[in-house]
Amino acid sequence: MDKIEIFGGKPLVGTISISGAKNAALPIMAASLLTNNEIKLSNIPNLSDINSMLKLLKSLNSNICKKSEKVIIKSQKPKSNFASYELVRKMRASFLVLGPLLSRYGEAKVSLPGGCAIGARPIDIHLKGFEKMGVNFEIKDGYVIGKVKKNLKGAQISLPFKSVGATENLLMAATLAEGKTIIVNAAQEPEIIDLGRCLKLMGAKVSGLGTSKIIISGVKKLMGCNYKIMPDRIEAGTYLFAVLGCSGSVELVNLNNEVIQNLIDTFAQFKDLDLVKKNNTSIFVKSSKKIFESVNIKTLPFPGFPTDLQAQLSAVMTRAKGTSIIEESIFENRFMHVAELRRMGANILIKGSRVIIKGKKKIFGAQLMATDLRASSSLIIAGLMAEGKTTINRVYHLDRGYEKIEKKLSKCNANIKRIKG
Ligand code: EPZ
Repeated sequence: MDKIEIFGGKPLVGTISISGAKNAALPIMAASLLTNNEIKLSNIPNLSDINSMLKLLKSLNSNICKKSEKVIIKSQKPKSNFASYELVRKMRASFLVLGPLLSRYGEAKVSLPGGCAIGARPIDIHLKGFEKMGVNFEIKDGYVIGKVKKNLKGAQISLPFKSVGATENLLMAATLAEGKTIIVNAAQEPEIIDLGRCLKLMGAKVSGLGTSKIIISGVKKLMGCNYKIMPDRIEAGTYLFAVLGCSGSVELVNLNNEVIQNLIDTFAQFKDLDLVKKNNTSIFVKSSKKIFESVNIKTLPFPGFPTDLQAQLSAVMTRAKGTSIIEESIFENRFMHVAELRRMGANILIKGSRVIIKGKKKIFGAQLMATDLRASSSLIIAGLMAEGKTTINRVYHLDRGYEKIEKKLSKCNANIKRIKG
């Protein structure tokens, strides 16, 4: 297994190119099952999660052609609408094939995704929504088996929680359902807008994207399309936190106006980070403070502070002036990075759904264990900030969501390298 080795304490200076958004690319790739025409995607990030989704689509009889950041997917009727445990357990977003398969073929057998390091992550909201659309489910041997008598029927579906995945699964299914579907209390993440835009290019009739009420009028058939995936706001936010923690000046490129505005809004509360929009595709970020202000933040569904940046924020605040309180309201166990940060001398402890961080002048390099995607990126930031050497083990977690992170950082003056294992 590969490791990453960092000698910390250096400011970050240079340019970082942001890749396409994993959490937009995954549902959009699943949406290719809704048509037998070609879906041509660009700005696809080179990540293990993307390869897992491509493998799953291939197992469902889709033709795949991948050349660097471009992917062409041509779905054909699967021999069996079956998504195996082997494939789904590796990447829970595989569960997003359920909606397209039910909507296109009227039946599907998809492995229950199971939990992961950050929580139980049930799929009850997905299933209840599909039952409203006329699906009958049976749970057998760890699989969800869904059947529709004739066609999916449009319905009004109120989500008890703004679930990103449930919104995406139901949105995709509703595009071919009979009649109108209204998703109330829908999640509003930018990645859902990206999915909706791609579906509309395929001929879907969707309105209300980005609001908490999405309205879909089912159509008979969807066409193929060409679509460029949005930039990854979470990857970009991770690097912004790295600059706050290490100081320096970095330009993030390959963004777009919407993601730039989202980053400016999200980071407005961090007064020690100077964010300037350079043009429609890049921002310049500077932080000269060795010590910066602490914060009190609670993660919330969009447009609140994203849970996917919580671990990275926690790492940075280990060196803030004063005490920070960070509350995780989305997942029940997204603090796997805390024990590792403590090994670096951080004064951080968990109290229920909060972490309390008493900022210190220094943290120190150590041998660390990555446990999940965003916890891994939090350890990278801590290693860049720490005095001395940090070695991070099990970096396959990192490779799920960050393309060439050590290369991008080493081009910005960081002393970081991957040790092939
Ligand atoms: C998506 O996961 C993202 N993944 C996650 O990013 C992200 O953290 C999450 O949304 C929240 O923003 C992808 O887009 C591939 P949810 P998802 O359904 O869809 C509970 C990363 O780091 N819930 O909004 O699984 C659930 O347990 C990943 O890139 C139910 O109870 O998130 C969780 O506590 C991690 N029942 C909360 O809702 C359900 O049926 C949020 O889940 C569904 C969800």
